[in-house]
Amino acid sequence: MNDKQIKELVSTLTLEQKASLCSGADFWHTKTVDGKDIPSIMVSDGPHGLRKMVEREDNPFDTVKAVCFPSACALACSFDRKLVRDMGKALGNECQSEGVAVLLGPGANIKRSPLCGRNFEYFSEDPYLASHMAASHIKGVQSMGVGSSLKHFAANNQESRRMSVSAEIDERTLREIYLAAFEYAVKEAKPQTIMCSYNKINGEYSSQNKWLLTDLLRDEWGFEGLVMSDWGAVDDRPKGVEAGLDLEMPASMGKNDELIVRTVKEGKLDEKYVDKACENVLRLAFRGDENRQYAAKWDKDKDRALARSIEADCIVLLKNDKKILPLSKSKKIAFIGEFAEKPRYQGGGSSHINTEQVLNALTAAKEYAEVNYAQGFVTEKDETSPALLNEAVALAEESDVAVIFAGLPDAFESEGFDRSHMMMPACQLELIDKVCEVNKNVVIVLHNGAPVEMPFADKVKGIVECYLGGEMVGGAQCDVLFGKVNPSGKLAETFPKKLSDNPSYLNFPGEGDKVKYAEGLFIGYRYYDKKNMEVLFPFGYGLSYTTFEYSDLTLSAEEINEKDILTVTVTVTNTGKYDGKETVELYVRDTHSSVIRPEKELKGFEKVFLKAGESKKVVFKLEGRAFAYYNTDIHDWYVEYGQFDILIGASSRDIRQTASVFVGNDNVIPMKFTLDSLGGEALSFPEGKEIFKEVIKNVNMGFDSAQTGEGAELAIAAMFNDMPIHAMVSFCNDPSITRQTLEKTVEKLNAASAEYAKK
Ligand code: BGC
Repeated sequence: MNDKQIKELVSTLTLEQKASLCSGADFWHTKTVDGKDIPSIMVSDGPHGLRKMVEREDNPFDTVKAVCFPSACALACSFDRKLVRDMGKALGNECQSEGVAVLLGPGANIKRSPLCGRNFEYFSEDPYLASHMAASHIKGVQSMGVGSSLKHFAANNQESRRMSVSAEIDERTLREIYLAAFEYAVKEAKPQTIMCSYNKINGEYSSQNKWLLTDLLRDEWGFEGLVMSDWGAVDDRPKGVEAGLDLEMPASMGKNDELIVRTVKEGKLDEKYVDKACENVLRLAFRGDENRQYAAKWDKDKDRALARSIEADCIVLLKNDKKILPLSKSKKIAFIGEFAEKPRYQGGGSSHINTEQVLNALTAAKEYAEVNYAQGFVTEKDETSPALLNEAVALAEESDVAVIFAGLPDAFESEGFDRSHMMMPACQLELIDKVCEVNKNVVIVLHNGAPVEMPFADKVKGIVECYLGGEMVGGAQCDVLFGKVNPSGKLAETFPKKLSDNPSYLNFPGEGDKVKYAEGLFIGYRYYDKKNMEVLFPFGYGLSYTTFEYSDLTLSAEEINEKDILTVTVTVTNTGKYDGKETVELYVRDTHSSVIRPEKELKGFEKVFLKAGESKKVVFKLEGRAFAYYNTDIHDWYVEYGQFDILIGASSRDIRQTASVFVGNDNVIPMKFTLDSLGGEALSFPEGKEIFKEVIKNVNMGFDSAQTGEGAELAIAAMFNDMPIHAMVSFCNDPSITRQTLEKTVEKLNAASAEYAKK
């Protein structure tokens, strides 16, 4: 169906029929209309597996058996666009074989606090990384003819009061951090649908926020798909229709459809908005129907193998003292901790996958070596016992190396609530302490959806961060532990030493129904870097069994215009004995800026595979946006001309190569002068200086003659620089300098600065 046909079809519908299409038929389907040939399509969660509901007589909430892939928290550590796309493709194929037209995900929300219960479903604290991961996910899914639903738009960064809280965010922070995570994914991957968030942004629910859903999303970013509500996120439905919320999910039993009809009849809602929403619903439904691949087959074993290899490339090696890893098969190896047998591999809530089988590390280890096992703790009860501890300690004592499988149980993090602290269960910490007392070769393998504090970090030789690695997690763990796969994951978020170090700490989860994002732009590494603060593990950090060297950083030019593309090339060499993958990270730093900016910001990453001894050139293309900040005077992205550093690093705290480039801008924003502008501003450009010199010929700062010397001169100059123009009335010994004449001066300054900006 083309647009013209869809419009024609809509014109044949009654207001009641149109309104009815604006909400779901049930929890998972769109509606059809009696007597019309309109398909109903099915949507399902997402995002790291297919959670398709099937109503059975004995269980109305059953879901199909499916493959659980690594969650977004793990996936982002791959820093690998292709790998994420491949996972998306597999998910798209699963949807096709199950008749699902839209997969609900991925989530591009920013990890503002490590406590957000849903961080496991989100990618990163950095918008560039989050958006690129989301775009790759969407491209993969949609390449199979299935739609994605990018969620939760926007600023849904906590679970506490998620359905009513207002995220209070200033314009620049919103643009540069929270919206930027969505922007690239929308523009680049064109998701068929977007799901609005539950929360309010600056006082307005996302589900009825016209600025968000229409002005920004459609008019500015060019989104052409459908906007659906998060499940139950609708407040004022008619207002939502006008704002650009096309589809209410799930069904509201016709209540809101009736309200739409009534509001139109009362003349309070223009019917054209209902038409628009209807068109978007129909476009999606017909598209889903037309793209349906009835012959699609779901090869679960193939997807499981993919899930295993993906997770192996997501695992982050955080510590590897004395090359404790990879494990030598000839050593006596102990696996300790119940997670070796029952790993935590996914989070709770709407993304929960009904898996058929889970590969644990104990079973997977059989592919490699003989290992002995002690349970150590009981996850479900969140406890240990003297007997379990003694057994674990005895095993550790007689083993060459003790690998402890630990992390957060389900009860510690999930959709629906936030964590209240960042600690691991006490029983696990006790176990780790006791094992460390008897064995010097301890490796911790972690299963968690978000950072934890690690009081054991200095006591153990190895730490392996697996996040929530999907149902094949045990296989991936053993592939890495025994060296079949060389770990290449890097952290997509900072691990602070303790919770109170986190910048959102004082304002999370807010007060009553408001949460102030008072830390502004400075979240994650943007904060820790600016404060020069020690962290447990920095953003972008991860070790390998091999080593990489960086050399020959070159820029295509020393000077560019913001409209140009800068090509950055760097050579990476694998200088160790293992083949391996390395993610090369590119950060940009504005060396001088008239606005407050982070120390550096991620603007590129590339993952390369290098055989031992091999070198490769890695190439980045930077557009003007890589240098821009969001300017709240012009309400647009803006490159302030000047010098920028290009930093190439193995992590945000391990910069290996630096070069700099001058970026010019033909559209310099002229300075705007008022009577409140400062003397220093007037004197900051040659023409301004000429104009202002006339005014200040006879200036008298009122300093007494006893104050002389360099200090006094500096003080006078500083005071003058910071003095508003209107104050010249008082400080100029000149009767002709009045408020009226100063207004003329301001006019002249504005004309001169406009001319100056053109140069
Ligand atoms: C979640 C969404 C999910 C939807 C449908 C909501 O509670 O926030 O992420 O897609 O339910 O299950």
